[in-house]
Amino acid sequence: MKKTELLYEGKAKKVFRTDNDDTLHVEYKDDATAFDGKKKEMLSGKGRLNNEISALIFAKLHELGIPNHFIERISQTEQRIRKAEMIPLEVVVRNRAAGSLVKRLGLERGQDMTPPVIEWYLKDDNLGDPLINEEHIRVLGAAAADELTEMKALALRCNTALIELFQNAGLILVDFKLEFGRDHSGRIILADEISPDTCRLWDAKTGDSLDKDLFRFDGGNLQGAYETIFSRLGGLTNDV
Ligand code: C5P
Repeated sequence: MKKTELLYEGKAKKVFRTDNDDTLHVEYKDDATAFDGKKKEMLSGKGRLNNEISALIFAKLHELGIPNHFIERISQTEQRIRKAEMIPLEVVVRNRAAGSLVKRLGLERGQDMTPPVIEWYLKDDNLGDPLINEEHIRVLGAAAADELTEMKALALRCNTALIELFQNAGLILVDFKLEFGRDHSGRIILADEISPDTCRLWDAKTGDSLDKDLFRFDGGNLQGAYETIFSRLGGLTNDV
């Protein structure tokens, strides 16, 4: 499978077409951005770690029967995925209060919220990815009601699987963001990435952040934290 032209370049990834119509080629970049792109930096090795961690997690979710776009890891920074029509929504699942939820509702950081809180955000850079509800989604025509039901069910199944996966690695899954697409038959599949860029992960013993909050709030060595997560998930750092 050969990559052909660049289809899309985002903040953290480049997506290329391939000579196969059903698949795309993704390259993870070292760029880190936060606060709607207002904070920006190049963090050498971040692309490799996110590619490796995301590949490992998507393969695990596939094993558990959660449909997703991942086909295979190609190299340390590249993977092949199934093409999907992306739904312009971000689904955030929260097990504990943190980040924007603490700001918005004044909850105590770390407060347990079982059962998890699910939120929808509209993916729209110009609007700053606003928090929206299911009525807004209906008005916008972003997804059908049965698709929302399916995305919610898949998000909760992911949450259960990821809580256990990270718990076994000595990590607390505080919250995370998912994106979904429709495959060629219209089925909803999990897409994009799942990595410490898109999850909040706290060390179960110390409570230290081992995720992108380190970059957002200048909290220390991000690559070191991501490396810790990768190795605790069983990843082999010197794989080619
Ligand atoms: O900032 P907030 O608390 O709303 O983020 C909730 C979760 O979603 C965090 O794990 C964050 O990393 C993730 N997120 C993301 N991409 C966004 C917004 C949030 O991965 N555009």
